[in-house]
Amino acid sequence: MSETILQLQGIYKNFGSVEAAKNISINVSKELFALLGPSGSGKTTMLRIIAGLETPDKGRVLINGRDVTNLPPYKRGIGMVFQDFLLFPHKTVKENIVFPLKMQGKDESTKEEQYQWVSQLVHLEGLDERFPYQLSGGQKQRVALARGLVSRPSVLLLDEPLANLDRELRKEMEIEIRRFQLELGIPFIYVTHNQEEALTMSDRMAIMRLGQLEQIGDKFELYHHPQTSFVASFLGSTNAMQGEIKAVDNGCIVVDWDGVSLRAPYKDDFKIGMTVDYFLKSEKITIHPPGQKPDDHGRTVIEGRLRDTIFKGQYADYLISLKNDNEIIVSDVPTISPALRNATVSISWPSEAPDVFPADGGLA
Ligand SMILES: Nc1ncnc2c1ncn2[C@@H]1O[C@H](COP(=O)(O)OP(=O)(O)OP(=O)(O)O)[C@@H](O)[C@H]1O
Ligand SMILES: [Mg+2]
Repeated sequence: MSETILQLQGIYKNFGSVEAAKNISINVSKELFALLGPSGSGKTTMLRIIAGLETPDKGRVLINGRDVTNLPPYKRGIGMVFQDFLLFPHKTVKENIVFPLKMQGKDESTKEEQYQWVSQLVHLEGLDERFPYQLSGGQKQRVALARGLVSRPSVLLLDEPLANLDRELRKEMEIEIRRFQLELGIPFIYVTHNQEEALTMSDRMAIMRLGQLEQIGDKFELYHHPQTSFVASFLGSTNAMQGEIKAVDNGCIVVDWDGVSLRAPYKDDFKIGMTVDYFLKSEKITIHPPGQKPDDHGRTVIEGRLRDTIFKGQYADYLISLKNDNEIIVSDVPTISPALRNATVSISWPSEAPDVFPADGGLA
């Protein structure tokens, strides 16, 4: 991995009794780093601390090795893009974009040169003299991006920049923003509470909860090897079950989930009688056509009723009703005819597929 550009070291921030940041330490290099978490988990607070709009109670912010904790925002070399764009309604596109340069007292030729550079980068040619109300949502978002980038910052912070765009436009802008990051070669810190967006766009990501970092790392690592119940339930399309460990058998625990037996690998902190959270991503489950029952060696195999099939093209979501009145969602290649509604089918998954933790009430 390349060198660290931005460092957060032991950041704390309280608002009255609310702990908005609690011992946050992150190193970010020239990458797209996603900060993901539910509403109120402290994502915006973290960006505001990096930008200098908020002072931490404790801890330091370093950019390229330099301590900027006590520098005002305009001396930090940081660009920011917000969810609601925050464009000045009575300024033109061009005036909006060069505003940060004006605040920095840059001369006309510098303003012109950087404006030309950035308006080409984000494809805003020809819109210079328009006012915000004459722009589409996507164009407004590009103006906000251009304004964040115009002073060639060493870090760009983006706070839910696509939340106000419709799905099609969001997909397009996700790819564009990734392209800008690669072209500019600076760290982008991208805040979102949309897990799909974070998984699509980022190199690495951190999951925040109640002002703390739950887990930080490569996105594949977080997706496939969550370390807490919260992360396991937050990422992906996940079936959440809870049950009691009844037995240990052949390196596996056997969990009783309302009368259905589930298998998972044994871990040191497991004990018979313990209540565990058992998370299973829907795509890790296989559905078997009626009459076919897989070998249960090293697998959990359950019978159920195929209540509905939601065809999605490349795959389908199968809703399976179980004898314990619970339901499991299976995402698999759509090989089973929708006409088989209410047929009895088997579903199965390898023992290693689930993520299991002692129950701690940490469900998302
Ligand atoms: N200036 C402030 N004064 C008091 N409380 C604040 C202030 N700013 C943030 N908070 C509180 O700190 C916590 C974290 O807020 P923050 O805005 O960082 O959350 P967030 O993760 O960005 O949420 P969202 O996804 O809704 O934008 C919340 O409980 C919030 O109410
Ligand atoms: Mg926020």
